Amino acid sequence: MNPHTPVVVVTGAGSGIGAAAATELARRGLEVVVVGRSRTKLDRTVTAVAAASGREPASFTADYTRFADVRRLGAELRAAFPRIDVLANNAGAVAGRRKITVDGHELTMQVNHLAPYLLTHELLGSLRAAGRARVIGTASIAEVWGWPDPDDLDGARARFHSRWVAYGSAKKADILFGREASRRLQGTGVVATSFHPGVVRSGFGTRSLWFSLGRLFYASPESGADTLVHLATHDDGVEFPGGFFADRRLRWSTPAARDPQLASRLWDASAAAVGVSPDWLG
Ligand SMILES: NC(=O)c1ccc[n+]([C@@H]2O[C@H](COP(=O)([O-])OP(=O)(O)OC[C@H]3O[C@@H](n4cnc5c(N)ncnc54)[C@H](OP(=O)(O)O)[C@@H]3O)[C@@H](O)[C@H]2O)c1
Repeated sequence: MNPHTPVVVVTGAGSGIGAAAATELARRGLEVVVVGRSRTKLDRTVTAVAAASGREPASFTADYTRFADVRRLGAELRAAFPRIDVLANNAGAVAGRRKITVDGHELTMQVNHLAPYLLTHELLGSLRAAGRARVIGTASIAEVWGWPDPDDLDGARARFHSRWVAYGSAKKADILFGREASRRLQGTGVVATSFHPGVVRSGFGTRSLWFSLGRLFYASPESGADTLVHLATHDDGVEFPGGFFADRRLRWSTPAARDPQLASRLWDASAAAVGVSPDWLG
């Protein structure tokens, strides 16, 4: 019998897929820790999780457009949870137009890829302490039209900017991160995967008329959370290092999203962008 209740950190838990996943994981008896940007939204999830589990979850806020916030979040989580079994890097968004953060990066790439990269780095000690830990990235099939360039992560040299191409690039970076993290962290017990949640009726893309048009036909947040919950609780979450999933199954991703050289170069570029050593185990 394992006397330890697995600790699951869910980011982007203030609404949509993250809120639904946190509630379901708590209902299943895991110790859920919720992270969001807006305190008001996060408090709604805290109430839902408490209702599902009879226990109020720990909650933390951070704005991913600021690396300083992500570092503070990492320090707070490390102090509160010396052992973390699952990190669900789920927070994400698509910026309406090209914006540069205070850290000097394109906002969509920072929020969807660089900030989770940094948070995972900051939590490595707690993840390793779990013995067998999972890092799950909420990616997207939008990766098909994205192309993260390790030499130009922020698309500064791109001839034109499209928010959906920027988003696709960030999501391809999430899949590549899962593959490369699993490779570089081999032997530590930490396994990373990523998944596509489906097209989901949530807070995502509400500022895009094009995306909002189909809302009525989109899946529920609970359905979007299903594969995340699966990867957090089923052996699939540790048996397929770097795997990209949808509907609880391993799925096809583009050749670029499986390219080991691109994955490695992107890792190094991401480390430089967030100011850490690419050798996480050094
Ligand atoms: N909906 C879809 O069809 C779809 C499809 C494929 C992938 N995804 C991915 O699924 C994940 C969850 O999205 P969702 O559909 O559940 O949408 P959502 O309801 O908008 O949830 C996104 C979450 O990310 C958080 N977030 C956004 N910007 C942030 C920032 N700067 N700093 C910190 N947190 C931030 C939001 O926090 P606040 O609420 O506090 O602002 C929110 O909790 C995202 O990674 C998204 O890219 C969604």
